[in-house]
Amino acid sequence: MDTLTPAGALDREAFAARYRANRRRTADLFGLLAPEAYLERPLPLRNPFIFYDGHIPAFSFYTLVRDALGRPSIDARLERVFDRGIDPRDASAAAQLQRNGWPDRSGVQAFGAACDAAVLDAFAQAQLDDPSNPRLVHAQAAHNILEHEEMHHETLTYIIHRLARAKQRGPRGVHRDVTPPRRDPVAIPGGAATLGARRDALAFGWDNEFDEHVVDVAAFGVDAYDVTNAEYLEFVRAGGPVPAFWFERDGEFMLLGCFEDLPLPASWPVYCTQEQAAAFARWSGARLLTEPEYHRAAYGTPGGDERAQPWGDAAPDPERHGNFGWRRFDPEPAGSSPQGASAFGVHDLVGNGWEWTATPFAPFDGFAPMASYPRYSADFFDGMHYVMKGASPVTAPTMIRRSFRNWFYFDYPYVYTTFRRAYDR
Ligand code: AVJ
Ligand code: FE
Repeated sequence: MDTLTPAGALDREAFAARYRANRRRTADLFGLLAPEAYLERPLPLRNPFIFYDGHIPAFSFYTLVRDALGRPSIDARLERVFDRGIDPRDASAAAQLQRNGWPDRSGVQAFGAACDAAVLDAFAQAQLDDPSNPRLVHAQAAHNILEHEEMHHETLTYIIHRLARAKQRGPRGVHRDVTPPRRDPVAIPGGAATLGARRDALAFGWDNEFDEHVVDVAAFGVDAYDVTNAEYLEFVRAGGPVPAFWFERDGEFMLLGCFEDLPLPASWPVYCTQEQAAAFARWSGARLLTEPEYHRAAYGTPGGDERAQPWGDAAPDPERHGNFGWRRFDPEPAGSSPQGASAFGVHDLVGNGWEWTATPFAPFDGFAPMASYPRYSADFFDGMHYVMKGASPVTAPTMIRRSFRNWFYFDYPYVYTTFRRAYDR
């Protein structure tokens, strides 16, 4: 008999339904690129699209079925070709990771379909939750592959974003711009912030989310809204670096939206690198939030309690709480989701762009590489990756939990990440 997970009885149907929904979204995303772009690599440090088409189902298959359940390979060569190839520092490291021997598109799809069938069969019949198998404790491998695909939806989107317009098949959005909101910094009193999570408190968490611990945070001030394009433009006019989402046309800055070029929307949060964000903050006499300060601003309350989400304990709802969960591809004006504001009145901490922090990505005390994917985090504790919190417009609601931590290189320019300033008090 299946054991219980902290979330309740193991729900095979729910796993299978989420897997199918994820596969559909991946197929829909591939539908947003012209067929002739399948072998292209719009970002030189990322793989071509064909890699992701094979990697996503391959990872699901080998993580759950081959490595956790101990069943035989489907195609050992293709499982290697589509293994891993993330986040090289530069072109020579990218060349090292380069794979050859892609099948043609129908070959990738046939391999992917075989992986899907094996995964769905496992969801239907295998012992997914097995306390005697480290990869299957609390159904770890099953959760792992579901969130892995949801993360790759976001990765795929920001790569499709970089395709030539003529090769995109994306929807035209409805875009609103308004007068940027007033921004008196909000005073956050000193107090406790709980980072991480207890292993028995979550149905699933990645290795970098453990262990739970409490950090004492001194009083600070924080921007009520993210830094907007209009504000960042003043920095550029003063000689600051231009974000990779901007380009110039006829002497004016434009925004490279996901599927459209837009006159720079003044009220939208600026997407930029952690390095650019830190430079802007310094230039304006401030600094970036630390990860514990983000937790105070987002989850702390004037009464001293902490919440599960900025808005309270309700499950994340894109219609109410923020610009996340695929409501749209691009940002919207800062402050557009007042029902998602934190108890201290800080807006858009979850949604409308991830938030850069000043905190290098590092393990918490009690960190142990996860059995079903030991290299998930451990390869990136190098002082060059920084913690991102929150969510972007294309982050799945399933990953919106207090302890979730994302990360990228300090100078990685293509992720949907904005920032706000902190002030010493
Ligand atoms: C956690 C988003 C930084 O995309 O580089 C995907 C996620 N790891 N496949 C990435 C990931 C392996 C990772 N991030
Ligand atoms: Fe991956």
